[in-house]
Amino acid sequence: MKKLRKMITVTLSLIMLAACVPFAASAKESSKLIAFTFDDGPGAYTEKLLDGLSERGAKVTFFMTGQNAAARPDTVKRAWLEGHQICSHTYDHAQLTAISGARVDEELSRTEEILNEAIGYKLSYSLRPPYGSYNKSVLKRAGVPCYYWSVDTRDWESRNTDSVYYQIMHAARDGSIVLMHDIHKTTVPAALKAIDKLKEQGYEFVTLNELLVRRGIEPTAGNIYFYAYPDENGTGEALSAPEISFTQGLDGQKVSISGDSRADIYYTTDGSEPMPDNSTRYEGSFAAENGAVVKAVCVYDWNGFKSGTAEKEVRFAKALALSVASRHGMLIISGFAGNATVSMLNVDLLIGLAVGIVAVSIGAVVLTAVIKRRRSKTAVG
Ligand code: NI
Repeated sequence: MKKLRKMITVTLSLIMLAACVPFAASAKESSKLIAFTFDDGPGAYTEKLLDGLSERGAKVTFFMTGQNAAARPDTVKRAWLEGHQICSHTYDHAQLTAISGARVDEELSRTEEILNEAIGYKLSYSLRPPYGSYNKSVLKRAGVPCYYWSVDTRDWESRNTDSVYYQIMHAARDGSIVLMHDIHKTTVPAALKAIDKLKEQGYEFVTLNELLVRRGIEPTAGNIYFYAYPDENGTGEALSAPEISFTQGLDGQKVSISGDSRADIYYTTDGSEPMPDNSTRYEGSFAAENGAVVKAVCVYDWNGFKSGTAEKEVRFAKALALSVASRHGMLIISGFAGNATVSMLNVDLLIGLAVGIVAVSIGAVVLTAVIKRRRSKTAVG
């Protein structure tokens, strides 16, 4: 009876302990994501907005007009370098549904050229059609992913910081795309105040590319997106920096890089920051000199979604120069493998060693038998 009670107590304690473990493990919540978007700039207040975003580590998306980008190329470049996504809002805020197909093409290609010129690389720029005015033909002609919004702050109408802040806080939810205009002085403090408040609530501020990809959606040309609320798709995971390792095989010293399967890996070996023009796309391990500095990033899109940079100096433990030769009927292996030195391994010696082990084993068996026999004799006597 006592034994049974003890067994039940022990079993119950174990069940309770097991029940607690999964709760502790699932305590970490997945991030809430939100995309703030700023149209019609860059303007006189964009640099101030960039300062505030940088202080807060928040990433956003800019839909720039070609004519404003041409007037402030340094601001365009700074926004891109700081990891924000740069997109097109046509050259002169044209209503794309009201003009000919040829004019739509001209609006978009002219803006693309201006943005490329300012940034210094040929990138792909998603589109937000001005006035949210689009149709099938506009989406098809754009040839890039297009974006609408799910939260309209109407900041151009109110020109009031409190009102803009309230509109954001009232409507924001996990996966929202929020529409604002960085050409209005009142919008910048409202956006920064909302970022502070929403960060307290666990929100992460991401570009449109990042929002969609983390929700398992691949931004696709010809589609228009309004939001990316959480569902069963997507991992919610950010892109983490790749891992750089060094391997020494029979084919020599190699650098290997591994990273997130949603992105490509780009690397440099001269210590420079990987950029679209100086980096190589990783397609398998490669040879590198001892002392070279490898830098690598995971890139989903050079415009608005890449990981941080991994950096490692190439350090091979020892040179690998393994050679196998046959001399005077002996097999000779010499060289280094990792930290272990292999030299003058001689087959005759190995055979000798094996024969020795067999002889000692037989001797031991015989000796045991002799001792046993003697003991049994003593017992009888
Ligand atoms: Ni606009």
